[in-house]
Amino acid sequence: MSLPPIAVALDVPTLDEAVELASALSGEVAVCKVGLELFGAHGPEAVARIAEHAPVFLDLKLHDIPTTVGRSATALGKLGVAMTTVHACGGSAMVSAAVEGLQAGWEAAGSVGDAPIVLAVTVLTSMTEDDLRSINAPDAATQVPALAALATGAGAQGLVCAPTDLAAVRAAAGPDSMLVTPGVRPAGSATDDQARVATPEAAMAAGANLLVIGRPITRADDPAAAARAIAASLRQDA
Ligand code: C5P
Repeated sequence: MSLPPIAVALDVPTLDEAVELASALSGEVAVCKVGLELFGAHGPEAVARIAEHAPVFLDLKLHDIPTTVGRSATALGKLGVAMTTVHACGGSAMVSAAVEGLQAGWEAAGSVGDAPIVLAVTVLTSMTEDDLRSINAPDAATQVPALAALATGAGAQGLVCAPTDLAAVRAAAGPDSMLVTPGVRPAGSATDDQARVATPEAAMAAGANLLVIGRPITRADDPAAAARAIAASLRQDA
């Protein structure tokens, strides 16, 4: 049986806590997301230790010139990450360099299983319309699908987007793109600092392929039980 389409965000202060969560959630979620905070503090060791329990989604949001991004992605591919992120606004050549670099690193390491994938981020949800106006950029509703199409055309296998953008991003990226969405909250749970949220069932119905869920699982008394409850709600809805 395939694992529930959940990427649990391991946004915790120490590597030991992250490893404990990954161990408890092994077999309950599809991937564990390691962010800049944990990677900045513990580097490749964080990936290696989490990967003992689940595939690793290393969320570094690369954005630099194509050569630099390509080489960085090769290094990440050698670590054996299953997925990583880039900013689509880095341009087509940069996104392509990330895709090629990640694959090259994975091959060089002789890794087995599914090839790693690059997910592109469009417009950060923290960018306000005032920010965009101040740099004479089009509004987010215009930019998000355009950047999704650019990244997909450059070879990105998927996109990260808010639940509210799923339909527009799916239309721009096509049926094969993996759409990954944060801001997911089971009905009745705290929204924390997320401004726009969707339930797991609604996000999947809107076209998501993978749900990024952090605190509703990581702060639960029993994280594995919380993940199982979300998985059950998805099966009921299917
Ligand atoms: O705890 P929570 O479920 O809110 O965690 C969501 C995860 O998704 C965090 O790692 C957060 O950084 C990430 N994320 C997000 N919103 C975005 C992009 C990423 O919540 N627009």
